[in-house]
Amino acid sequence: MSSAWDELKELAEQTLPHMRTMFEQDPKRAQTYQLDAAGWHLDYAKNRINQAVLGALVSLAKESNIESKRDAMFGGVAINSTEGRSVLHTALRNFSGEPVIVDGQDVMPEIEATLDKMNAFCDSMIKQTHLGYTGKKITDVVSIGIGGSFLGPKIMTEALKPYQHKVFNVHFVANVDGCHIQDVLADCDPETTFVLMSSKSFSTQETLQNTLTAKAWFLKSGAPQAAIATHFAAVSSNVSAAVEFGMSPDMVFPMNDWVGGRYSLWSAIGLPIALAIGFAHFKQLLEGAFAMDTHFKTAPLEHNMPVILALLGIWYRNFHNAQSHVLLPYYHYLRGFPAYVQQLDMESNGKRNAIDGSELTYSTGPIIFGSEGTNGQHSFHQLIHQSDTLLPVDFIFPLNVPNQDATHHAMLAANCFGQAQALMQGKTFDECYADLSEDMADREVIAAHKVMPGNKPSNTLLCDELTPFNLGSLVALYEHKVFVQGAIWGLNSFDQWGVELGKVLGNQVLEALQGDTHSELDSSTQDLVNRYRRAQS
Ligand code: F6P
Repeated sequence: MSSAWDELKELAEQTLPHMRTMFEQDPKRAQTYQLDAAGWHLDYAKNRINQAVLGALVSLAKESNIESKRDAMFGGVAINSTEGRSVLHTALRNFSGEPVIVDGQDVMPEIEATLDKMNAFCDSMIKQTHLGYTGKKITDVVSIGIGGSFLGPKIMTEALKPYQHKVFNVHFVANVDGCHIQDVLADCDPETTFVLMSSKSFSTQETLQNTLTAKAWFLKSGAPQAAIATHFAAVSSNVSAAVEFGMSPDMVFPMNDWVGGRYSLWSAIGLPIALAIGFAHFKQLLEGAFAMDTHFKTAPLEHNMPVILALLGIWYRNFHNAQSHVLLPYYHYLRGFPAYVQQLDMESNGKRNAIDGSELTYSTGPIIFGSEGTNGQHSFHQLIHQSDTLLPVDFIFPLNVPNQDATHHAMLAANCFGQAQALMQGKTFDECYADLSEDMADREVIAAHKVMPGNKPSNTLLCDELTPFNLGSLVALYEHKVFVQGAIWGLNSFDQWGVELGKVLGNQVLEALQGDTHSELDSSTQDLVNRYRRAQS
């Protein structure tokens, strides 16, 4: 690794003062470690850093050629080397008026044409000019997809609930577990239901099966085959497969292979979001992402929000052995965000090989988890506060929410800020001891149990309100954070070979469950298959 890496190793060995002491010594610490970009304020003062650490981290970014790697991504270079693809989710929200060239061709006209097609379709659905085959208004949209073709649409739609028009309901189905699609369809009427299947590859087992089930449900109700064209649409980069499946060509919304699944909500995969909140709001989501892209492209590394978040993550992952990173949105509608970042981060950077195939000698992507605040405080925060495991946290809080109740919102804010403070400050043995009654027989023992070591790092991200614009910039912030980390680790953040073996073996096991015997099955798997088959007979 680079000389900055060695310097960081040394800095990590020279323990910094406790954060509580650093705050006491420097009353301006909050002002030193904060940033504003694209609608978001980042307070990163509650981290185990000083100017020397920050300087070395920024040097690491420079030595890793982050700026040229970033420009290569935005410029359409095929940086997804194992799949031979460009990585251009940023082109999908490029409002600069500048072309984006892939294989000698500007991709912008095609992107704009798809956006126009989405806009027209949303309009016809929301104005209810697109009717069911019996002339009835559409009341329900069932969006079928999994992974990136599910998480982005579902979680962003949920996060933007205050912007939903409610002309029709939008439901999401991902899992191949039949309970899910059955539950959703049970509440729908085939005459007034529209099914939108989203699959970049058009080969994902779960999505194909759920769509087949929806199609069978539709036809079983008495709907004629020809009505499929009015009630079913698909989003895919494999347009011919979608048409072969029975979709009307007019009802296939294309996407390009240079959009990774987990980066695809900005493409036609975002259609369910646009259907739920209207196309104008969907465009604001794209504009917010574009604003963060512009910041990422132009801000110096030391004032660059995605870069700073990435570097702090690397500081803990590689130099303090932190294995996880926690996301805590203090906003009910944003409750799905940890699951969104989980796929984004873990599918991108959960890898062990460098671009050239050699094995990396250091840790890469952390485990991402989290939940909405304050719920986590009454559950897993205990471990973050008192265990010896280091778990850096990102708190996310909109300063205003729709239909704000002053008391509820102040309590929510107090909990969010208070948790960050408690993690940083902790509570010493002496403080705990002083709190206890002098008569207590086991005063020392109880005090010891109550000690909170503190010095636990966190970032706090604030925005005025979670508008579509601010949500777009938040998602782009994490996308670029993940990109910077992957670039520093020298891996390919844009493939996902680790998910393939499970798919192949899953298919083999399915054949075994359905009757074919497979000698390749190990004895444990074969025994499970036998038990399953006995249970079905
Ligand atoms: O199995 C992983 C994955 O390929 C994800 O990367 C992707 O988001 C998801 O499956 C769904 O893929 P598709 O959109 O091709 O159905």
